[in-house]
Order: sequence, then C-alpha cells, then structure tokens
Amino acid sequence: MQALILALPKAELHLHLEGSLEPELMFELAQRNNISLAYASVAELRRAYQFNNLQEFLDIYYQGAAVLQTEEDFYDLTWAYLLRCQEEGVVHVEPCFDPQTHTDRGVKFATVIGGISRALRDGQQKLGISSALIMSFLRHLSERSALQTLEQAQPYKELIMAVGLDSSELDHPPEKFQRVFAKAIEQGFLTVAHAGEEGPAEYIWQALQLLHVSRIDHGVRAVEDEKLMQLLISEKMPLTVCPLSNTKLQVFAHMSEHNILQMLDRGVKVMVNSDDPAYFGGYLLANYQALIEHLPMTETQLKQLAKNSIEASFMPDLEKQRHLLKISQL
Ligand code: HPA
Ligand code: ZN
Repeated sequence: MQALILALPKAELHLHLEGSLEPELMFELAQRNNISLAYASVAELRRAYQFNNLQEFLDIYYQGAAVLQTEEDFYDLTWAYLLRCQEEGVVHVEPCFDPQTHTDRGVKFATVIGGISRALRDGQQKLGISSALIMSFLRHLSERSALQTLEQAQPYKELIMAVGLDSSELDHPPEKFQRVFAKAIEQGFLTVAHAGEEGPAEYIWQALQLLHVSRIDHGVRAVEDEKLMQLLISEKMPLTVCPLSNTKLQVFAHMSEHNILQMLDRGVKVMVNSDDPAYFGGYLLANYQALIEHLPMTETQLKQLAKNSIEASFMPDLEKQRHLLKISQL
C-alpha cells in the first residue's frame, strides 16, 4: 500500500502556500527580515499548533505569514513546497495564495506573485511538476477589498488560472462575493470556493449556483443534504477533501469518522489534499497514510482517489490522459 501511494501520479488541488510555511523557514525568514516572533523556538511554535476550530488556526496562520516580505521569501516558500511534492510523487499542483494577507501589510502584489510564479516556473523546468495558480479572496474581508484585489491581479492574469474563496467560513456566505466572482468569470478566470467545511450545505449550493465554481474546496458537509449529494454525483463536481485538516480543526473528532470513503463509494468525485501541511501534521502522503491507518481503504479506492485528483485538475486533457494511463498500469 505505501509503495503504491508513492508510485501513483497525484495532483494536489487544495494547498495554501502560506500554510506550507514550516516553523524552521518561518524562523529563518524572521531573522532575515528582522522580525521578532511571538515564540521563542521552533518547538514552542509547534506546541501552539492545537486548534479547536478554523478560527483558532487562522489567527496563528495569519500571524505566521507576516514573516513573508520579499520576492525571495515567496520564492523560497513555494520552492520548499515543490521539493516536497517531488519527493512524494505529486506530478501537478494547483496551489492558492491569499494576496490580501500580504498587501494589507504593505507588501506589493507584484512581490508576492513574482516570487510564487518564478518558483512554479522552476518547478516545471527543473522538477517536471506542472502547475496552475489560484488566487483566493479572504471572505472575512469586504467585497470592496476583494474587488480591489481582482483589480491588482489584472497585469498578472496570464499567471493565474482561477480565483477562490477562503478564511472564516461561518457568517461569510459565498453570496457575499457573487459580484466579484461574476467579474472574475467575465475576465476569463475559473472559480473555486471553500464551502461546507465548517459552514452548512447551503453554502455549497451558493458556491455552485452563485459563484459557478468548477470545484468545491472541502465540501464534507454535503452529506447532510441528500438533494445536494445527488447533484454533486450527477454533475461530477469535484470536492477537494483535506483529511488531516478536518481532524486538526475538529470538523471530525477522529479520522475513523471521516466521510471521504463514504462519499467516494457513492460516486462523489473526492480526492485527497493537504490544505495547510505545515500546521496540520503533514503533506499529501501523510494524508493518505492517515486515511489508510484509520479507514478500511482498498487498493481500488486508493487508485480512484489519485485518478480523481488528475481528472479534477485544470491541466490539459492530453496531460490528464498521460497520468491516467500510468495509474491504470499500476
Ligand atoms: N479553510 C478556510 N480558510 C483557510 C483554510 C481552510 O481550511 N486554510 C487556509 N485558509
Ligand atoms: Zn483550505
């Protein structure tokens, strides 16, 4: 099973670059940029990574992102993630970033996207990992702020495949960003949105009907609404599920209670992702391993999860076929 997980070509479609900032790199960047951290050591920082809900995580995650200042910092962050992908047999990535987390601190949009996109280009050229970048709006901020962010992205449209929606879900329904997403679609962006992580199934309906998303990020609360489940299945709508994130943030009390296999067996297009690996205890392989340890996963299910990750990606059909052929031969 372990060897198979590693060998399967996998795509990661739900990964926050800021959430791949390991404590060691956080301390290194803090020193490089003369920033003092609220924690004395890497060990003390890691001990703070205990969360009862999404908001408790977000508070620490935004604090950590403050060490990212220069183009080189964003390059180093992205490059470190890509090296992990190479080790783990991840052949394609669609990471997201939160521009507002940085522009609100006075870091230029150009600095952020410059570093990220240069690393992604090197990832393709030096590691053979293909990618598409997603720009996420912070849903706890205003519609106006999201519109400004979309405006700032105009010169970099060629570097961004889709827009997304993340941060505090409760009380910030997708409908708040209907006009922003309509504008993004007009400009040629694809759309995705976090929905049904902590928020109700109703937010998944809204993401589908009002934001016209190509994928739902998380979406695990869909099982509470049978009509929605039927729609997800018939539309082959992908859900980018993040098992370790869900248990770390208490969406499920224990991995043995996770509903990913239940959804997979019903024909929902779910796949495995790591969300914020530096904070939730591991990258893609660790997520697969946690599932195998606590759920009765078969080889067929494992292959289907990898297959779904390729099919649900935004890569060209020819590339998809190449990876799917390899999966079918394993
Ligand atoms: N949910 C919402 N916002 C986020 C997450 C998440 O899992 N990770 C980083 N920002
Ligand atoms: Zn997420």
